[in-house]
Amino acid sequence: MNASLPEKPSNQSSEQHFIISPSLLAADYRRLGEQAQEAEAGGAEALQVDVMDGRFVPNITFGQGVVKAVRSVVSITLDVHLMIVEPDRYLEEFVQAGADRLIVHQETCPHIHSTLAEIRRLGVQVGVTINPGTPLSVLDEVLDMVDLVQVMTVNPGFGGQSFIHSQLDKIRRLRHKLDQSGNTIPIAVDGGIDIQTAPLVVDAGANVLIAGSSVYNQKKSVAENIAALRKSVWGRG
Ligand code: DX5
Repeated sequence: MNASLPEKPSNQSSEQHFIISPSLLAADYRRLGEQAQEAEAGGAEALQVDVMDGRFVPNITFGQGVVKAVRSVVSITLDVHLMIVEPDRYLEEFVQAGADRLIVHQETCPHIHSTLAEIRRLGVQVGVTINPGTPLSVLDEVLDMVDLVQVMTVNPGFGGQSFIHSQLDKIRRLRHKLDQSGNTIPIAVDGGIDIQTAPLVVDAGANVLIAGSSVYNQKKSVAENIAALRKSVWGRG
């Protein structure tokens, strides 16, 4: 199952075609299932589950059981972002838990070609992601193996961090590289995505906006925050 792009208003150009994928990292863990359902009800086309092991990143979060629980309450695309060392050990378990797409860090996969091929063999969508300090060139040999590339716009591990503006150029270069080869896969961006940065990343070529604290917060409801993100892109001059 892929995150289908929503019907865009007729006056929007195709490059503004994007989806919103709330990150459960910022949700209220006392009611995680409800928060996942609020995102779905609020129009999110996908949901991102941030799996962290305290080794690749300094934080520890969710595992296979949480993915399975979230899967049981929503039907939108479930992206599992594996911020863990040795992800190969867990691919099948996260697929069995209900992931629609597995997103692995190039930095954790010494045999990235083999890892991506295994995700494909397991029958789910294939995603790869790189940290702000990792050059695009590490993906040159595998761009034709994936269904999505995720550009980290914060250093992974925590929500609520500031957007790293230098990654806008990386997004533009990635979009250009993909366009040059006729590759139409989506570019996801993850970290510090809010109503200020959403228009910037869409203009740079991103079309999957992963948002944690700008969707899950005390200021507005999940639905209102998702609508505000969408409006920030569609309403820009
Ligand atoms: C960071 C996670 C991000 C994070 C985004 O390691 O991968 O998905 O949850 O949170 P915000 O949108 O608050 O930066």
